[in-house]
Amino acid sequence: MSRIKIFDTTLRDGEQSPGVNLNHLEKLEIAKQLERFGVDRMEAGFPASSKGDFNAVKAIADTIETTSVTALARTVKSDIDIAWEALKGAKKPAIHLFLATSPIHMEFKLRKTAEEVIQTSVEMVRYAKEKFDDVQWSAEDASRSDLEFLAEIIEKVIDAGATVINLPDTVGYTTPAEYGHMFKYIKDNVPNIDQVALSCHCHNDLGMAVANSMAAVENGATQVEGTINGIGERAGNASLEEVAVALKIRSDFYPYETGLVLDEIKRTSDLVAKLTGMHVQANKAIVGRNAFAHESGIHQDGVLKNVETYEIITPEMVGVHTNTLFLGKHSGRHAFKGKVEEFGVQLSDEELQDAFNRFKVLTDYKKEVTDDDIYTLLMEIKTDSAQIEKYQLDSFQVYYGTGNTPTAVVKVTSPDGGHLEAAQTGRGSVEALYKTIESLIAEELNLIDYQLNSVGGGKDALAEAYVQMSVNGEVMNGRGSHQDVLMASANAYLNAVNRYILKHSTAGKKEKVVQ
Ligand code: KIV
Ligand code: ZN
Repeated sequence: MSRIKIFDTTLRDGEQSPGVNLNHLEKLEIAKQLERFGVDRMEAGFPASSKGDFNAVKAIADTIETTSVTALARTVKSDIDIAWEALKGAKKPAIHLFLATSPIHMEFKLRKTAEEVIQTSVEMVRYAKEKFDDVQWSAEDASRSDLEFLAEIIEKVIDAGATVINLPDTVGYTTPAEYGHMFKYIKDNVPNIDQVALSCHCHNDLGMAVANSMAAVENGATQVEGTINGIGERAGNASLEEVAVALKIRSDFYPYETGLVLDEIKRTSDLVAKLTGMHVQANKAIVGRNAFAHESGIHQDGVLKNVETYEIITPEMVGVHTNTLFLGKHSGRHAFKGKVEEFGVQLSDEELQDAFNRFKVLTDYKKEVTDDDIYTLLMEIKTDSAQIEKYQLDSFQVYYGTGNTPTAVVKVTSPDGGHLEAAQTGRGSVEALYKTIESLIAEELNLIDYQLNSVGGGKDALAEAYVQMSVNGEVMNGRGSHQDVLMASANAYLNAVNRYILKHSTAGKKEKVVQ
């Protein structure tokens, strides 16, 4: 069977989802999990876009052992130089150059002629080749480009040294038949195409990203790009876990293999959902909560008689296991450390101590602490570690009862060490709490979305709150967990504010990048 390479862009295209702002420790955690998942390439970011992105790409490049680490760059020398600085420590560095080829992009966005687009692409691939052995070139908006022009430019960038050609459906406009035809045309009309890997990259605006990717594979694509849980700008990207399982389950139709470790899917999906604050819908294929649930009597009956009547994928195949009961009040530091290692999460001594302390507090509330609880707690630690100058919640009280006006009193420490206190009322307890915090924060805050989930079941389950907020007009996600729902809610609110502060500190500031 021939091999399809998997190119993950969760940390670059995925991070372009509104509100998602991962700090560099969170990105590193995801990168390590992607390596365990077995992706062939991971796109770690866009180093020229910000100091924060540069640092994250560099940290990932310096850490990852087996997976090729790539970074996005415009077809300009300075982007290529910056990408090289970030990636030169990688075991397998690669660069991803892109330039638009569709008439609408060339005329209105780039203000370049087709000839100029060819010339710039060829020159910049040659320039990148002086530093990188592995150079991917993408024809942005390929699916709306003229096929003859595409064939011409692709032949030239391959001659200039490109090793991967990517044909994105940038705006999620194409259909499976049309996208498949484009790959076939390029295979048939570019004489040197067999010297390179041919890649597909689909957006999901019409809900066809995975179907389009599969059509590309049927027609000669040897690399599939996408993100975990399908996150990404607008409606997102092709969902890699769906592509992976479709290739496996329908290997009769798609005779290809990947290097993916399928039973790492659930863990990878959970990690990305937790750290980005982007929840997976219950009916999402492969990783949704209901993906393996059979409700109707006829289905349940069929499954009991023979699981294959209605179940085409087993939960175990994608790493879905029932929540194992695990540590409790009497578990020691050694057992706890063992569990952390089992999760593959690396903690400094200080972080481990912090995690153990939080775990002990949790066992006071919860008799049975599950894997999910521990994992949630470890992700909290990772998020906290990266926030140096931040607002800290010192204490709060909420007075609430039927017939009373909910009132909150909150004390926080500001990033400059000042102690702040205020009280406000609201129509409900969460509103009172949020209005009070808002009155203490210098930034202009507006709540867009608020969600509360329980981690596992039971009355003593951990609460996990997610907020999406506008902070000074910018959309930010935040998350917080605690045994108490109000505490989890307060943590989520401050987490979004702190992410904003970190992003706008000198370390994280993003330039507005145009091409
Ligand atoms: O969708 C797209 O065209 C992209 C390019 C940068 C490859 O993400
Ligand atoms: Zn994209």
